[in-house]
Amino acid sequence: MTQDHHIARPDEAAQIASLLNPDPLVGESAGLFLAAPRRTGKSTFLRRDLAPLLERQGKYVIYVDLWADRSSDPGALITARLARALEDCDNLIAKLRRKIPFSSIGALGFSVNLKTAGAWEGTIPDALMLLCEATGKDIVLIIDEAQQSLSSEAGRNAMYALKAARDAVNQSGGETRLYLIMTGSHRDKLAALIHNQQAPFFGARVRDFPRLGQRYTGALTERINTRLAEDAQVTPETMDRVFEDLGRRPEILNDCLRDLILETAPGDEALRVIAERKKVQMREALLAEIGTLTDLQQAILRKMAVDRINFTPFTDDTRQALAGNRKPYSKGGIQKALDVLRDKGLVWRPSFGTYVLENADLAQALREEARA
Ligand SMILES: Nc1ncnc2c1ncn2[C@@H]1O[C@H](COP(=O)(O)OP(=O)(O)O)[C@@H](O)[C@H]1O
Ligand SMILES: [Mg+2]
Repeated sequence: MTQDHHIARPDEAAQIASLLNPDPLVGESAGLFLAAPRRTGKSTFLRRDLAPLLERQGKYVIYVDLWADRSSDPGALITARLARALEDCDNLIAKLRRKIPFSSIGALGFSVNLKTAGAWEGTIPDALMLLCEATGKDIVLIIDEAQQSLSSEAGRNAMYALKAARDAVNQSGGETRLYLIMTGSHRDKLAALIHNQQAPFFGARVRDFPRLGQRYTGALTERINTRLAEDAQVTPETMDRVFEDLGRRPEILNDCLRDLILETAPGDEALRVIAERKKVQMREALLAEIGTLTDLQQAILRKMAVDRINFTPFTDDTRQALAGNRKPYSKGGIQKALDVLRDKGLVWRPSFGTYVLENADLAQALREEARA
């Protein structure tokens, strides 16, 4: 067996689990929206820490990662996962079916051939209500990288269907409940799911996904010190500070630690130097990407980074701000620039709502530059 390098996060799992509570004063009954940048340990936490805890608490957990297969439609990924859950519950459903036969409603749904219970056909809310009834458990549906749903019509429809399912189950007066957890690597994109009246989860709010903390850096410090000489040890304080500087991303820290082991004189100071060099490299690579753009295109990216979800491309204020003290840009000129930025994959626009920067790291680098 290969060695498991997972560092458990029981406290954070307990904290998130406690938010799944029907009492609106304690829990987030509308749905839990959690955002943190890419590669900070979200999926690992959901799969390795949160889901097992929820299962131990007697809940039925369904996890879907919309980035697992970028070639598949996000709507199809969701229905395929629900079909698998129905298959897993085949025997329970068959028992239930002896009492109440399926009433097929056809259109708009998906179908699955259950070995024991027979052919089933229905919508996303039908499937989730059936799973609640068959398992007799609260269901926790986790959609990882949920903002990806906005990239297709079927994905968007799936989000509206999940909201309908949540209301149907939770307002049915039954014993069991449906909890939705939506996570994402892009706060502004995730916010598009709740941002305005047309958005599927209008009214919910986006919280910070818990970042890997001192428990993680502490365990990692112990691990690395076993490979370092007595007089070349790293302190947990330095490890944590460096991790913070690097955006709390395990893979980048691991890169630095590999370099550290090869150093002639490892230790705290060497780690700090390696991490600083890494940070400068990453920033320069990001900013080099936009160095080739026109003044207007660059100005739009900078303004978007600062204004975030409130960015309005065509108002008088924005047109003037983009031009500095020159003549304001025309709406057509701005539209053209935005189209180029979209083609280059730098700017993203959901079908409703506003434009946002595609790369959250670049947005962060531009904000830091604006503050400096
Ligand atoms: N608790 C943990 N212990 C050890 N390694 C971790 C832990 N959480 C995340 N990682 C590592 O960090 C990297 C990014 O994690 P991942 O869960 O894919 O991030 P995200 O879903 O936020 O993009 C992976 O290589 C993963 O193995
Ligand atoms: Mg992930």
